[in-house]
Order: sequence, then C-alpha cells, then structure tokens
Amino acid sequence: MNFRVRPVRRLAGECEVPGDKSISHRAALLGAIADGPTEVQGYLEGEDCLRTLTAIQMMGVEVGKKGPGHYRIGGVGRDGLSEPGDVVDCGNSGTTARLLIGFVAGQPFWTLMTGDESLRRRPMKRVAEPLTRMGATIVGREDGGRLPLAIRGAPRPRAISYTTPMASAQVKSAILLAGLRADGPVTVREPAPSRDHSEVMLRAFGARVERTDPLTVTLHPGPLRGTAVQVPGDISSAAFLLVAGLLVPDARVIVRRVGVNPTRTGLLDVLAAMRAPLTMTPHGGATDGAAEPMAALGVSTAPLAATTVAGALIPRLIDEIPALAVLAATARGTTEIRDAAELRVKESDRIAMLARELAKMGVRIEERADGLAVPGGQRFHGARVASAGDHRMAMALAVAALVADGETVIEDTACVQTSFPTFVDTLNALAGGEAITVEP
Ligand code: S3P
Repeated sequence: MNFRVRPVRRLAGECEVPGDKSISHRAALLGAIADGPTEVQGYLEGEDCLRTLTAIQMMGVEVGKKGPGHYRIGGVGRDGLSEPGDVVDCGNSGTTARLLIGFVAGQPFWTLMTGDESLRRRPMKRVAEPLTRMGATIVGREDGGRLPLAIRGAPRPRAISYTTPMASAQVKSAILLAGLRADGPVTVREPAPSRDHSEVMLRAFGARVERTDPLTVTLHPGPLRGTAVQVPGDISSAAFLLVAGLLVPDARVIVRRVGVNPTRTGLLDVLAAMRAPLTMTPHGGATDGAAEPMAALGVSTAPLAATTVAGALIPRLIDEIPALAVLAATARGTTEIRDAAELRVKESDRIAMLARELAKMGVRIEERADGLAVPGGQRFHGARVASAGDHRMAMALAVAALVADGETVIEDTACVQTSFPTFVDTLNALAGGEAITVEP
C-alpha cells in the first residue's frame, strides 16, 4: 500500500487521535492478571495493541469487545494464566514483545514468542538480562538476544535491584511485571526518567509502587484489583498533526483529549523552545496520581527557531523525533538532536532513514552516531520515498509531503495501522479534501 500526497494550503479544525499505544498495552496486561474484570475505554485498535490482546487470550484470558475501543478483560489473577498453546506472534510491536517477556517471566510455564522481520532484528537482551537474574530461563537466537525466543518463567521470581543501561520504559516495565510475583520488592533505577505509565497504572490497580527519586522506582509484589481504565489520545500520534499544523501555510489545528503525562511531553517543551504558538487546555484527570492527565493541544502556522534536543529530554520525546526532524528542516538555524542512539533500534534505524528519505525530498540532514543535525530554512520537493515498514517514518514523510512543492508517493504505508489507523482520514478532514490518497 502507498500514500500519494498532494501539498495543501490550509488545515483547519478540531480532531482527536486514537488511544495511547503505551497505555493500551499496559491496560491489557494488568487487566489480564488482576482479580476481577477490567473495563478499558479508548483502547488503541491498532495492530500493535491488538497483538497484546491476542497474546493474553492465548493465555486463557477472556477479552470481550463492547464497542469501538471498549473492551472487558476478564482478569484471571496473578496465578491464573495458562501456557499458550502456540507461538505468540508480536508482529511489529516491540512493546508487546518486551512487556510480554516480563509478563511471562514470573509464570510457571513455557512461552514461545516471535515477531515480524523488523522486530526479529531488535534487541531483546536488555529485558532478557535482568529477567534471567530474576530466575527466568530465556533461550533463542543470538544467545537469547533476538526473537524468536522461548521463555520458561520462574515460579517465584527473585527480588532484584537493577540499574538499566538505557532509559527504557519497556525494560523497566518488563521487570515490574515480573516483579508482581517476586519474593520481595523489586527496584529499577534508570539513567534518565522514562515514561511512567506502568507505575501510574499499577497504582490504579492497587499495587504499592514507590518512587524514591525521579530515577528510582520500587514495586512491592502483590495482587492487582481489576478497575476501569480510560486511555487518553496518543501524544505520539498527535505529534504528526501538530507538526502539520505548524508547517502548512494557513493552519489552525486543535487535537482534543491528548495524554499529557509529563514523562511524554518533551515535544511540547521543544515546540515552546522553537517559539511555536502552542496552547494547552487541561481536560482534568490525574487527580490522585492514579490517572493520566489529558489536554486539548492547539497550534497554528508559525515561523520557528532551531533548538537543541538532548539529554533527559530524549526519552520524553523519542517517538516524536521523525516528526520533529521534518519540522526542524524549515526552522531558522540548525537543530541538533543528540543522545538519541536508541533511534537506531526502533522499527527501523530512524537516524539513517530520516537522512536517506528526506534527502530524496531535497532536504539535507547530517547523520550522527547518536542523532542528527538538521539545517533549517530548507524546502521539501515532491519525490518517491519509502517507509521501510516503519509507521512513524511513513507519517513523518506524509507531513513533509503536505508542504512539498509537488506530489509525493510514500511506499509501504500499511504499517500506519500499527499505531494510528485513522491517520489518513483525520488529515484529510483537516485539509478539507483528499490531501492523501491510499493506493493499493
Ligand atoms: C514504549 C517505550 C519506548 C517507546 C515505545 C513505547 C513503552 O521504547 O519508544 O514506542 O510503551 O514502554 P523504549 O522502552 O525502548 O525506550
């Protein structure tokens, strides 16, 4: 499937984005091992999160669909899962794979897991290493470092105190999930704060989670209580609409009900530093530390200034860097993105991909080992570009194409279904016409 994108002069209106991908995965997994049912509203019905629902069903959890994005998950309790009867296919989803490895690392059975070509290339040692210390057996390709993997859970995982080598919410969450059945408190320390959706949701399910400092979290093992989860819109999807709303010549865009957990709002800080006219109107939520805050985010066309994106900011906007690179190419001055080597092990090597595909659109980006230098003041030219099956690359290229000086064809765009199935319809509604057409 390809996108054919025509440049647009105008974007206007209010919209919503589908549910947050990170929060949806966690709602499914915690709901599965809670005592009693969990009702989830706003669940992201993209391929990644549907993989997680299928995985818990394969372990004997009942999942009932009650409406669009509305699911009832029949919690079986921490001791109630059963061994999956077949290989669990995580598709393109790194979060499904890494969280699930932690989820089954404390279960007394075997789980076999695989994924698509992209996921089978991505590193799994980062979760296998601490989980092995907790007593799980993880075997597979590259000495247990790549899918397909076989995991034999530890019936009673050992309590550990672990320092992660990288700021990764997936690694932290895998350890916490295994820790729910551990023989004592489990502590994870990170080099910089990563998204804390697991901690927020574990508390909502009744778990005792302590944050001794911004880098350290301790979980006390115990049962979970099924609850109601309202999933906010995904700021990582909203990012593409906000960037489009800043770039298109005559634009005013408002995205409602976006999750604005401070561990995810690095993009908003960067937009403010670039002097973007950004408005944020809170919707309420997060009253007791057990819910996720939401806001309506608004932008309009504006000339922007370059900035530097590095350090502790990186984990707070890691998935937004493809969109940000597109924006930076038009700003005044050179934007530096550093400390972001993690981009090389996402759904694609996003550093190499951004440099290569944007070059096809006539935009020069300097590739660095851990980031990018993006000279501003450039114009995008219509071209034929490729997503390499990476959803965020496909959408970033589509946004660049909206302001190019001719038509652009983006190849291999079915991947957009993994996180933002309504991307094309939402952008076309804002454009008031067929800016993007989907070709088989
Ligand atoms: C995620 C964490 C991040 C992010 C990914 C989702 C999560 O990955 O890039 O899209 O839901 O925990 P890392 O943990 O690898 O940084």
